[in-house]
Amino acid sequence: MVKQIETNVLPIDAETPDASVIRRAADLLRRGEVVVFPTETVYGLGADTLQPEALEKIFIAKGRPFSDPLIVHIAEYHALEELTGSIPEPAHRLARAFWPGPLTLLLPRGPRVPRLVTAGMETVAIRMPAHPVAQALIQALGSPIAAPSANRFMHVSPTTAEHALADLGGRVPLILDGGPCQVGVESTILDLSGEVPTILRPGGVSLERLRAVLPSVQAPSGYETRSEDQAQKAPGQLSTHYAPAIPLLLFDGSEEAMRAAMLKELHRCMQRGERAGVLVANADLAAFQESGALVFALGDAARPAQVAASLFAGLRALEEAHVRVILCRNFSEHDLGLAVRDRLKRAAGGQVIQV
Ligand code: TXA
Ligand code: MG
Repeated sequence: MVKQIETNVLPIDAETPDASVIRRAADLLRRGEVVVFPTETVYGLGADTLQPEALEKIFIAKGRPFSDPLIVHIAEYHALEELTGSIPEPAHRLARAFWPGPLTLLLPRGPRVPRLVTAGMETVAIRMPAHPVAQALIQALGSPIAAPSANRFMHVSPTTAEHALADLGGRVPLILDGGPCQVGVESTILDLSGEVPTILRPGGVSLERLRAVLPSVQAPSGYETRSEDQAQKAPGQLSTHYAPAIPLLLFDGSEEAMRAAMLKELHRCMQRGERAGVLVANADLAAFQESGALVFALGDAARPAQVAASLFAGLRALEEAHVRVILCRNFSEHDLGLAVRDRLKRAAGGQVIQV
């Protein structure tokens, strides 16, 4: 049992964070406590990277195994040198292009990085978040902040303070509420420790944008055919990592075929007396209006960034409505669509229904 504590939720302006609120949060971190804070991707559960007892609290609050390493968040470039052994040239080029922003680089671990951060691996994951609250907090602490997403282990990442409170209320002393996260999916994790730069997790910086700066970037392989070597390189990338508490059926095919298959499956649900939720695009709304299902529109299918921004909120909304099953359409893989498809496939337990 985790000891229950009082959780304070403090509103904070996302653009110009109130200095006194930041100071309060930084004081907690300095004293070895954990704090939930917004980033442009998802909310993070942060601790001072250099305090192992504080890092331990992250794992306990999340119910996360110690074998799953953490991302270190920095606010200034010089911190990169303090955390890594050697910095390959592409890292500088990518950092210049995408930092601050939703890109995490895997680099050789420097000697100062505690073992708990890297779970004993020889690489350390580093990113410079773009969110003003995250930046102000790291600067006020004067030390990098190690932070996973602020959800319970295996649950959907939080994109609002309410999501984080639902998962971690009673387990953390403070949540900074900076409103909804703009990107909505986690950062792209790029492994720069080997010969070929390889995406381990598609995320907020698209493959296309990475390749425009570094053409040799390797796309992530489908995790179901992931080699053992790759599985070890991204220990947290279990296929069920983003699973909502409710079974999700993911349909892939042409727009018409997905719609038809989902309506057919909905009909079956109704016959069994099961309440279903559907995740669709704006253009699908009319087709599902009178279907009897709880419908959540994720945005314009031609604009994957819009879909990414509302995806986790959609999953959580249907979960909270206690539907028996979630039916979801797939999206094309351009731009942030690759990350959307990845999270949906994980939420579906690795199964995609081709129609
Ligand atoms: O956008 C994000 O990346 C958010 C915000 C809070 O920054 N953070 C986030 O952290 O998503 P987390 O812990 O939920 O996911 C990080 C993933 C995990 O799957 C972990 O296994 C992997 O990164 N990871 C971290 N360090 C690693 C390392 N040294 N080698 C391989 N994988 C690593
Ligand atoms: Mg996570």
